[in-house]
Amino acid sequence: MTQRPYVIDELISAKAIAARIEELSRDIQEEFNDTSKLVVVGLLRGSFVFIADLVRELDLPVEVDFLEASSYGDAMESSREVRILKDLRSPIEGRDVLLVEDIVDTGFTLSHVINLLKSRSPAKLKCIALLDKPIRREVDIKADYTGFEIPDEFVVGYGIDFAQRNRNLGYIGKVRFTD
Ligand code: IMP
Ligand code: MG
Repeated sequence: MTQRPYVIDELISAKAIAARIEELSRDIQEEFNDTSKLVVVGLLRGSFVFIADLVRELDLPVEVDFLEASSYGDAMESSREVRILKDLRSPIEGRDVLLVEDIVDTGFTLSHVINLLKSRSPAKLKCIALLDKPIRREVDIKADYTGFEIPDEFVVGYGIDFAQRNRNLGYIGKVRFTD
């Protein structure tokens, strides 16, 4: 299938993202202030840029691990079925865990992954999402920390893709079809 032509309109600038991450990292720092057992878990692949910037703002002893859940494939709609494609490398029992997600949309992915991680008995589990589309929610769930609430737009950039493209943009933009 050939891709419909589209352009990308900037929604959140690189500068605004950096400023927000600085704020969020202060909250996270406070949340995990007294821990020496924090593991920051990135949900692949969309969170890879966010987690890289976030952990570098944290003055805490952190470990980093990754989990990959199935998502949209190349479509723009959630499949509502979540499968784990790549599991964590290390056990999280008794650990403090910060789960890092790119976008909470319907909420299926986040609720599935949170249930999975909870079943492994971490000492503490918090979740941070860069973006939230509350209007799209189908599962009653919210990240503990959110970077930006956005409208019902399909967004790309800063790690987030449309059919695997545009992850390398430094800003968040919205997809606008031109045909
Ligand atoms: P949910 O399970 O519907 O909440 O979907 C969450 C996942 O869908 C996110 O981790 C993203 O990978 C993907 N997603 C949701 N909205 C967008 C978007 O606007 N652009 C690109 N990916 C998205
Ligand atoms: Mg994705």
